[in-house]
Amino acid sequence: MSEYQIRLYKDSDYESVREIFAHGITEHTAKAFRFSLRLPRIWAIFVVTFLLFSHITGSLLVSILAVIIDIGFLFLLNKYIFVSYVQHSLDDDMLDIQKYYFQRDGYCFWVAESSGEIAGIVAAVPPDHPGGERQVELKRMSVPRKYRGKGIAKALCRMVIDFARERGCEAVILETSYPQVDAWRLYEKMGFKKMRTFFAPSLMAKLIGFTLLLYRYDLPVHR
Ligand SMILES: CC(C)(COP(=O)(O)OP(=O)(O)OC[C@H]1O[C@@H](n2cnc3c(N)ncnc32)[C@H](O)[C@@H]1OP(=O)(O)O)[C@@H](O)C(=O)NCCC(=O)NCCS
Repeated sequence: MSEYQIRLYKDSDYESVREIFAHGITEHTAKAFRFSLRLPRIWAIFVVTFLLFSHITGSLLVSILAVIIDIGFLFLLNKYIFVSYVQHSLDDDMLDIQKYYFQRDGYCFWVAESSGEIAGIVAAVPPDHPGGERQVELKRMSVPRKYRGKGIAKALCRMVIDFARERGCEAVILETSYPQVDAWRLYEKMGFKKMRTFFAPSLMAKLIGFTLLLYRYDLPVHR
């Protein structure tokens, strides 16, 4: 027998769902930071900072301190990107989940439940672009650490694919980010194809190489 069941979201899930979503996103800060530390343009900034401060102050200690401050700033920048995304989402669709996902056609929100706890979340929305009415966008996929590796995300993913199929849609699409490695493995395992890789639309995101990945799962087209 399965250790969990997938069901529709209900109001009593509200706090757990928001917490699971927030943790699932912010946990990628360290990975994104390590990635940006490997970029040549970031090293160029460190070198310029070092040379500038040693030229101005003539002090090795001050120059090293200036580079350490750069590194701290880089970490905060990475953190800011994840935290601001979480905050935006919590104030947007995740503010009144019942109203946002259950009072409009084409929207839905599911949870996985295990022994009375929320063990995973996922949502479906119509994508906000031309032709989006024939597609479903998978959003808010997250499984708390203690429930990972049990196939819960795959079951949640199948829920969204079935939802799209029942609605006669041609594809399920989603966006994820470069540091969310477990997520791309999940989607590729489920048969999603990577369509595009692009920088998040902000100057800061470009500077630290914050890349988004667009995935698509094609469904058979009904005649
Ligand atoms: C991505 C995430 C949802 C996966 O949840 P999960 O319940 O552990 O995933 P599943 O057990 O269903 O695994 C599905 C497949 O994903 C891949 N996968 C997931 N985690 C993996 C890991 N740590 N290493 C390698 N592959 C992994 C595997 O292919 C796995 O299939 P398999 O076990 O048959 O090989 C979970 O890690 C998570 O919540 N991460 C943080 C939030 C996040 O990044 N969400 C995605 C937003 S786009």
